[in-house]
Amino acid sequence: MTTPQKGNLNLVPFVSVDNMMKLILSIGVEEMIAGIAAQIESDFKRWESFDKTARVASHSKEGVIELMPTSDGEVYGFKYVNGHPKNTKEGLQTVTAFGLLADVGTGYPLLFTEMTILTALRTAAMSAVAAKYLAPKDAKIMAMIGNGAQCEFQALAFKAICGIDTVRLYDIDPVATDKAVFNLKDSGLTVIRTNSHQECVSGADIITTCTADKQCATILTDNMVGAGQHINAIGGDCPGKTELHKDILLRSDIFVEYPPQTRVEGEIQQLKEDHPVKELWKVIAGIEQGRTSDTQITLFDSVGFAIEDFSALRYLYSAIKGTEFFDNLDMLADPDEPRDLYGMVRRAAKTGAVA
Ligand SMILES: NC(=O)c1ccc[n+]([C@@H]2O[C@H](COP(=O)([O-])OP(=O)(O)OC[C@H]3O[C@@H](n4cnc5c(N)ncnc54)[C@H](O)[C@@H]3O)[C@@H](O)[C@H]2O)c1
Repeated sequence: MTTPQKGNLNLVPFVSVDNMMKLILSIGVEEMIAGIAAQIESDFKRWESFDKTARVASHSKEGVIELMPTSDGEVYGFKYVNGHPKNTKEGLQTVTAFGLLADVGTGYPLLFTEMTILTALRTAAMSAVAAKYLAPKDAKIMAMIGNGAQCEFQALAFKAICGIDTVRLYDIDPVATDKAVFNLKDSGLTVIRTNSHQECVSGADIITTCTADKQCATILTDNMVGAGQHINAIGGDCPGKTELHKDILLRSDIFVEYPPQTRVEGEIQQLKEDHPVKELWKVIAGIEQGRTSDTQITLFDSVGFAIEDFSALRYLYSAIKGTEFFDNLDMLADPDEPRDLYGMVRRAAKTGAVA
């Protein structure tokens, strides 16, 4: 990979929130999600070339802070991300993130970026890629339970990649649904507001659960899920934080990102350690089958894995090339003589670079 704009070695391209928004608007939200989705698919096909480790999570009473690293041997990436469901009550977001790409050959960073918005795009892209392989053919209607920060991105991803034309919304907080209805009004989707979990899933081909609650919640009970539906379960992504009743899991064919992480964090934490699951990358790579019948219930037990962030970072790194949508951040000390780091500091005082 080459740097988007060759500058001094101390400078690292940095994508701020402001520039991320400008970039998204210049590319188009659905187009950008589709671009990230294509990068995810191509990286999942070469899954075996990546370093893989379950993310490093620091849990507290209120939430979690996680580091998500991976490398393909040439490029290294990591994301810092938090999950604090109580935050929105304090005017803060549940999920915020930033991340970095680096050159494995030198260890020098190549890109530093906001990832709060990028995570919403990549999670939506990942969900839609999974559904492309697992959802019923010609799925048109998606139920979307949990209408918070991720909601509209999910709806648009399923429209762009899976061809859904209708989204049914439900949230225990009607203000969240008001916001989603407003934001999706010109999206080209038919947007239907519903009054309960049960009403929301009625007639849906795909059910997305995207709620935030720091507990084992039961957003879907067994009677709400019918033959042939695909469930895209996003919000259960921490130990003790799930969304589906266990009986649904027992009726479903379950697809996961990285089993050692999902067994701890996903819906399947409710099942025995050896309960059979399929790895999504194998389906994408054509090694295993995804949906095999019209009556099968498929479940993407999504928790979010480092390779998805790597794909999003790689996409971003290419997308900013030749644009104005990044700044060069003075991030690396770059002494004239590499070992004279101290001398560089001393000279700064002498030249008046520092008061
Ligand atoms: N799997 C992944 O890759 C991934 C990525 C990003 C976020 N997440 C998770 O997705 C979830 C949603 O994230 P967000 O940023 O949209 O959070 P958010 O706090 O902005 O929105 C969550 C919404 O869920 C609603 N909700 C809570 N309990 C509910 C219930 N019982 N029924 C219906 N609605 C309910 C809340 O009112 C809120 O509007 C979080 O749990 C987050 O950790 C997962």
